[in-house]
Amino acid sequence: MNRKQQETPIFTAVKNYVNDNTIPFHVPGHKQGRGCEELTQFLGYNTMSIDLTCFPDTDNILNPKGVIKEAQELAAQTFGADKCFFLTNGTTCGIQAMIMSVCKPGDKIIIPRNAHKSTFGGLVLSGALPIYIRPEYSERFGISMGVTPEAIEATLQEHPDTKAVFVINPNYYGTASNLKKIVEICHKREIPVLVDEAHGGHLHLSDKLPPSAMELGADLSASSTHKLLGSLTQSSMLFLREGLIDSQTVKSTLNITQTTSPSYILLSSLDVARKQIALHGREMVAKALYLAELCRKEIARIPGLELFEPEHPSPGCYSFDITKITVNVQNLGMSGYEVEALLRSKYHIQVELSDLYNVMFLISLADNEETIAYLVKALKDIVSSRNTRNVVKYCPPWPVIPPMSVSPQQARYSTTKTVPLEEAVGEVSAETIMAYPPGIPIVCPGEYITSEIVDYVKILKSENADLQGTEDPEIQRIKVLKSAFTLIEEEVGSAG
Ligand SMILES: Cc1ncc(COP(=O)(O)O)c(C=O)c1O
Repeated sequence: MNRKQQETPIFTAVKNYVNDNTIPFHVPGHKQGRGCEELTQFLGYNTMSIDLTCFPDTDNILNPKGVIKEAQELAAQTFGADKCFFLTNGTTCGIQAMIMSVCKPGDKIIIPRNAHKSTFGGLVLSGALPIYIRPEYSERFGISMGVTPEAIEATLQEHPDTKAVFVINPNYYGTASNLKKIVEICHKREIPVLVDEAHGGHLHLSDKLPPSAMELGADLSASSTHKLLGSLTQSSMLFLREGLIDSQTVKSTLNITQTTSPSYILLSSLDVARKQIALHGREMVAKALYLAELCRKEIARIPGLELFEPEHPSPGCYSFDITKITVNVQNLGMSGYEVEALLRSKYHIQVELSDLYNVMFLISLADNEETIAYLVKALKDIVSSRNTRNVVKYCPPWPVIPPMSVSPQQARYSTTKTVPLEEAVGEVSAETIMAYPPGIPIVCPGEYITSEIVDYVKILKSENADLQGTEDPEIQRIKVLKSAFTLIEEEVGSAG
């Protein structure tokens, strides 16, 4: 390992600035905490004193030439990329920048239907046209999984003018697609692959995990360092593999989506997290994997709970991250939401997520045997107090992806009206309707509302499913386009 990996250029620069007893005549106006005493008392002087801004000592994130450049180069080396861009607006900003870097208005991009909402933001900002593909689906768990290389190949054949392919690696529940094959298919056509690695910052640190996008030759990947690798919330990294995408284009796009006032607390946390990963990442991840295995074994022994352990390789799950522990609680006669609330109120445990059927626990670098034992004990306790078993809830079949009338960007800027859901058939939606599970939009802005969709929403409502995305929380009414300013001449179909 390069000895420079022991260094932390940004963190060192901000500490030097503070140790120099510099008198600040610049923003932020709290001037090392003196202007906001209550917060300083809680966060401490050290935290407030490094809440700085861009000046020569601390470099400039929009055009780094000093410590940010050095820190980004070290991170690129650690994560196996040609270039790294630090982000303080979360992976959301990285995903938007990836899409805007490769797509201009009207360009087609292939996207799994279960992509995170930040992807939709990228579509609105870029004006790109999504060609949605259906991910594979686990009916038992109500979980959407990966996409197959075959689905990508077929969609590319149908839309040979596609400008980019977007992949999630892995998804929220830990399932990863066969990204290697997808990269091969796309690169044969010189189409870049953009990867949402919000949940994959740790992938390159163990052979037991799905490989990372950069290891597999993808062109861009956005990684939530804050989610799994110890940096602070909102701090992420965008990685580039040189070849199909010009780094200057990515840089100039980030200058649109990224703040001009990055938090040096967040930037320092990226710097220190990178150092920790470079020096100790493999052993820390090995420990997390050991604990995840232990936790899985214990939970598997609890009657009434069912672990999500998708077969892999299988079409929706080429490889799997076992640190995401999803547990189906249907057989307790409880929803995942109810188990989440009980764990929170009675056991002071907060889960990563819950849905109608499942709760999910995330095991990270920070866990230990005690936290795992406490979780297992709480689950055993909950199970022992239940006597309902084999309660199967209704899971309606998933409707086809509706045809698109206008692009997400055009839908965003069209005038709208609100109509009763029953009367919305044939209208173009201005809203997303999202059902959990499986966290896949039933309809997105710009798409036609079909009678199938209206019927599906009614079934879900009668099942008290968790439906989100519309202004009317009851979805009695829905916003549709009054006058779409430009219709796409050739209707863009979906491969679903
Ligand atoms: C799959 C996925 N992609 C992207 C994001 C956005 O990441 P961030 O919160 O860092 O902006 C998230 C956030 O939860 C996510 O789950």
